[in-house]
Order: sequence, then C-alpha cells, then structure tokens
Amino acid sequence: MAGRSPHRLYHRHLLHLLRSITRNPNPNPNVSSSLLSLRYLSNTPPPTQPGSGGGAYFPPPTLPLHPPTFRSSLNEAEVAKFAAIADTWWDFEGPFKPLHAMNPTRVSFIRSTVCRHFRKDPNCARPFEGLKIIDVGCGGGILSEPLARMGATVTGIDAVEKNIKIAQIHADLDPLTSSIDYSCTTAEQLVTENKKFDVVIASEVIEHVADPSEFCKSLASLTVPSGATVISTINRSVRSYAAAIVAAEYLLSWLPKGTHEWSKFLTPEELVMILQRASISVQEMAGMVYNPLTGEWSLSDDTSINFIALGTKEDKGELTDVPQ
Ligand SMILES: C[S@@+](CC[C@H](N)C(=O)[O-])C[C@H]1O[C@@H](n2cnc3c(N)ncnc32)[C@H](O)[C@@H]1O
Repeated sequence: MAGRSPHRLYHRHLLHLLRSITRNPNPNPNVSSSLLSLRYLSNTPPPTQPGSGGGAYFPPPTLPLHPPTFRSSLNEAEVAKFAAIADTWWDFEGPFKPLHAMNPTRVSFIRSTVCRHFRKDPNCARPFEGLKIIDVGCGGGILSEPLARMGATVTGIDAVEKNIKIAQIHADLDPLTSSIDYSCTTAEQLVTENKKFDVVIASEVIEHVADPSEFCKSLASLTVPSGATVISTINRSVRSYAAAIVAAEYLLSWLPKGTHEWSKFLTPEELVMILQRASISVQEMAGMVYNPLTGEWSLSDDTSINFIALGTKEDKGELTDVPQ
C-alpha cells in the first residue's frame, strides 16, 4: 500500500509518545475490529444465518425484559465543552477543522448506503428527495447542509442553543439549505413527541452522551420501521488514543485538550451490540482514515480509529412503552 512506511513511522512515533504520556490506555486486545464484515466495501448482501459467509452474523435483537424508558442522554460537562467553542463551527481552520475535512468522506458513505437501502439512484443530483432525515447532535450544521443539498427534508437538533443559532444563520445563506428545520432539543424529547424519520443520523455524538445504550434506544425510536440509522464515532483502541487524543489534542492542537475521553469510545463490536439491543441491525460499516501526508480522509476497511455504520430498524419489535 502506497504511503505505508511513513504511516508506520508516524504511528510508531505516536505510540512512543503515548507510552511516555500514559502507562495504562487499557485497550482490549481480545476484541478485533476485523471480526466485522465491511459489507460497505464488498457490497455483499447480509447473511441470513451463522456461517452463511460474506460477513458477520448479527443475531436478532433481544427485546428488553422491562418496558423501555428514555432517560436523558445529556452529559452536561460534554455539552458545556461544545457551548464554549460554538463560535468556531464554520472556521475551517478552527477546532472543527477535522469535521470539515472528514465531511466529504462521511457524506459519501451516507449517500451510497442510504441510496442502496432505499433503492435510490446515488448518481442523480438530489438522491435524497422524499426522505425525512434527522441529524442528531448537528452542531453548526456541517453535515446537515449537504444532506439538504441532496434533496432530503432535514431536521437538525442539538443540545446547545448557540450551536443551533449558528447553524440556522449559516443555513440561511443558501436557499438550498435554508429549509433545514433546526431546533435546540434532544432525541429523547422528540421520542416523547412521537417524531419519526426515514433516516436518523448521529455523527461524532455518541462518544459525548451520558449513556450510549439509552441514546441508541432513542435513535431507534425516532427511526421508522425499516428505516435507517447511521452512527459515526471513534473506536476505543491504542491507535485512537494516539491519533484522536495525543495527536489531535496535544501535539497538533486541532481540538481543545479534554475534548475526548478515551474510555467513552466504543469499539465497532460494542456499537453493533448496543444497536442490536435497540432493534437496529447493522448492515454496513466502514473505517474512515486520515492521511497526514495529504490531509485527506478516505473510506477504508480499517476501523481502528474512526468508523461509520448504517443499520436498519427491525420492522417488528418496535420499542414502545408497554403498560405494566
Ligand atoms: C463532535 S460534535 C459533532 C457535530 C456534528 N454531528 C458534526 O459531526 O458535524 C458533537 C455535538 O453533539 C452535541 N451533543 C452532545 N450530546 C448531545 C445530546 N445528548 N443530545 C444532543 N446533542 C448532543 C454537542 O452539542 C455537539 O454539537
């Protein structure tokens, strides 16, 4: 693979720094991200039973024994971190530079997987025409805007009022994005209002919520039966500690120190299981890889740092409150 040696040197250098900074990153070496089938890259249809080949088997979700409740996913300390830098959402060289740089790559994954799921043409100008999409934890609208330009009816929600104001001001600059319906609220609140969407997206948010399982339950509840849920996040691995924390926060100062807590990251396997328990079955997954030499991101089968997954909501087994 071209550029492998500089990559290795880069990572070896980071690992060396990492060892000198911390003695206990405590990754779980028994869990391999290669356990997952990266069907996004292979286009293999989902297997129907264990051992059918072509990918990992995701067993049917187990329904909770107790009727679900939707507790707030808000982690006040995390939300405060974003409120403090809200002015910088559209500064391409500011703290959100990595999200701006990553945007075309995640949009490309979302465009092709969502079109595949809803049998739409990914090559037309407005492939998401007719789809209702919610961007949960939308921040300043970096992802909401391209979704609207692709024709979706977009709702963007965030827990930080200032983020929503900035998102709205920026969206109003372009007639193609001014229709985005932004509001300062939480996924749990919309669940209580019985809101439903064809596609529910939470990109780079789950690592900041109080309880990922509860959060996924809310995302599932917002998704129509047979709809799609998309999550992108950061793996809990030695490499992610080196790249997302040591490099991004301490060496390169891309992000304010303390933006991420390594222990809150989820491995791809954990995310698949959490989603399964919420009646979302992961169908497609890809890694998103940053090349420090070109400054560009690309989709990859390497999920060791950043990854993105699309799951589909079970048609039956809807999580609704059942009277006791
Ligand atoms: C890393 S930013 C990602 C922003 C956007 N999704 C993107 O990728 O461009 C995380 C965002 O999630 C929001 N957030 C954190 N916890 C939240 C919660 N429980 N409910 C709604 N938004 C939340 C933060 O305010 C912040 O804007």
